[in-house]
Amino acid sequence: MKHAEIEKVIREMTLEEKAGLCSGADMWHTKAVERLGVKKIMVSDGPHGLRTQHGEGDNLGINGSISAVCFPAACATAASFDRALLRDLGETLGDECVAEGVSVLLGPAVNIKRTPLCGRNFEYFSEDPYLSGELAAEYVKGVQSRGVGVSMKHFAMNNQETDRMVVSADADERTMREIYLAAFEKVVKEAKPFTMMCSYNRINGEYASQNKWLLTDVLRKEWGFDGLVMSDWGAVVDRVKALAAGLDLEMPGGDGTTDKQIVAAVKSGALGEKILDEAVRRLLCLAEKCAPDENKRTGIDFAKDRKKAAAAAGECLVLLKNEEGMLPLDGKKKIAFIGEFAEKPRFQGGGSSHIRTEGCVGALKAAEKYASVVYERGYSLADEGENGALLSAAVAAAKEADAAVLFIGLPDTFESEGYDRDHMRLPASHDRLVREIAAVQKNTVVVLHNGSPVEMPWIGEVKAVLEAYLGGEGVGEAVAAALFGRINPSGKLPETFPKKLSDNPSYLTFPGKGKRCAYAEGVYVGYRYYDKKEAEVLFPFGHGLCYTEFSYGGLAAEKIGETEYTVRVNVKNTGKTFGKEAVQLYIEGPDGMKELKGFEKLALQAGEEKTAVFALNRRSFAHYDENAGGWIVAGGRYKIFAGSSSRDLRAETEISFAGGEEKLVVNMATTLGELYAHPLTRSFVEDRIASLVKKSGNSGSVMGISLEKEALLKLVSGVPLRGIISMMKITVAQMEEIIAKLNALLGNR
Ligand code: BGC
Repeated sequence: MKHAEIEKVIREMTLEEKAGLCSGADMWHTKAVERLGVKKIMVSDGPHGLRTQHGEGDNLGINGSISAVCFPAACATAASFDRALLRDLGETLGDECVAEGVSVLLGPAVNIKRTPLCGRNFEYFSEDPYLSGELAAEYVKGVQSRGVGVSMKHFAMNNQETDRMVVSADADERTMREIYLAAFEKVVKEAKPFTMMCSYNRINGEYASQNKWLLTDVLRKEWGFDGLVMSDWGAVVDRVKALAAGLDLEMPGGDGTTDKQIVAAVKSGALGEKILDEAVRRLLCLAEKCAPDENKRTGIDFAKDRKKAAAAAGECLVLLKNEEGMLPLDGKKKIAFIGEFAEKPRFQGGGSSHIRTEGCVGALKAAEKYASVVYERGYSLADEGENGALLSAAVAAAKEADAAVLFIGLPDTFESEGYDRDHMRLPASHDRLVREIAAVQKNTVVVLHNGSPVEMPWIGEVKAVLEAYLGGEGVGEAVAAALFGRINPSGKLPETFPKKLSDNPSYLTFPGKGKRCAYAEGVYVGYRYYDKKEAEVLFPFGHGLCYTEFSYGGLAAEKIGETEYTVRVNVKNTGKTFGKEAVQLYIEGPDGMKELKGFEKLALQAGEEKTAVFALNRRSFAHYDENAGGWIVAGGRYKIFAGSSSRDLRAETEISFAGGEEKLVVNMATTLGELYAHPLTRSFVEDRIASLVKKSGNSGSVMGISLEKEALLKLVSGVPLRGIISMMKITVAQMEEIIAKLNALLGNR
């Protein structure tokens, strides 16, 4: 359907037909209007595989879905720090959608990991918006290159599962813009997703599904989004308000009540028909853009995609600890694999993203080609309690061996969509297993399967830890290959592992009270907080070891525009084996907060050196200023670091911006400190201080504060102009005149 045809269809549709198009036909389809040639399209979860239900649909996955391939979840793919991997994953998923007749894939999910406890963290990328946005943009470009749309979710501030359908995420605008919206913004602007999915929760009191500020002012007017917004499944509260706010499609389909509400609102004049037409137009355009091609419905290419899933899993492994070169293992030694996850790894999470797979080869089976290992279950996944018999058999096997590899982690029930964890611990039986085995076997290695951080009370007792996350159905093969040195781990943590839950900045306010959750830590989420606090962590953001070493040198920042720089750093593989290094670039601005602003994954042969190149732009240095209502670059010094993790910074340089771009508009609430900070109004404050000193005569102090300029400045910097009217013995009208003069000086009208 061409543009003109779409307009014709809209003109020919009845009001009822138009309203009807604004809700789904059923769980997974939009509606068709056969008499006008409007075809239905199918949407499917997402994000790391297809949970397509061709038969009767339900969003709890009770009725079966097609058999599909489970790729690593976002918790794992984020650890790759590899844009190309995400692009390839997107393309593969796009191909699968085409092969199954799916028009829109429900993902990626780019919510920020505010707390390690969020039950859905495994589906999300990172605690860092830059990393999330960069990787998600590639995924989206990949999927959409196949003519299939994505639905980026859950827009926005859906950072917990507790009360997810009612809780209000309460945050200031700077926090939202810099942390919680930034990844969405990046993807919208760079990858142009065909659709967005609003979240269930409220934001500062208003439901995301009917939040005009979010869905229209920010998303469409500011960011230029021109696609369709659909609701999360069942997120609509007031259908008419939602439509007016910018929510085009309600999913899933209901009993027609909300369609009737739309009709009534248009008839009564409460809702402009133009708004309805616009939503219909977006739906018709979407259906047109990603109409399925029946000739290409060939079914998933399992052989090809399973290989891809295993290869991808290998790029996501994070080697957290490796003392005395414990890993890789020597296949000729006597190795014991312990823990049921060796046989049946946990490779995906529960909820709407759960994929029905044909199975997963565990590391135990996959290791057969590298070594002959002995195996003990150690614990039972069927029952989370400790099992004495399994434990003693495991300890005995470990004692006999040259090295023991323990496969532990979070069982399915510990983390899932729909609820949050209430602690950060592993099952007691897993912790006990590690301790008892480490006591008899000095060469103990731990392999972890989990969707988000866990406490590791035994960390000092084991030699190596390999974080495998929920690495998809190929994770067992990837882990075995890494343990025996066939893969060199190259993942980096996309989140901080705190030592204990109470160290996390959201600890005091999560999950909120009375259906409200105050994001009181502001922008200090994840490493932004731990670093500023100089707090000890278990493993820092960006951390990940390798079987080789890298050296960094020659960091240089070349100015190419007013706030544009090209930064280069040379990285050399100084070890003996091929490896990949995710080179990270951090910027610390005048306010002392360090943030990831670039990363580049380099593949280096032993002895090889390459240059990582980063393009920094105005946004790399800017912060969101609520008063100015936009992004500004503060004047001052900016440190630029290149490093192997947020706490392993290997090279540093510094640049500075003069003056800053802050726009100062003076009013009665403007403080003397603000006036002093601005070069054009500084003398006003200096004059006041001079007159203060003069008035104090020879007393040497004002209210016991020394007459030194610095001390006086501290004393008065928080005082607003309103507060010095009486001190200056002037009238309000005279102060208004002064304000007008100051504004004129600043070039404000
Ligand atoms: C989830 C979405 C999902 C949808 C459809 C909702 O419960 O929050 O992420 O896409 O169901 O299954």
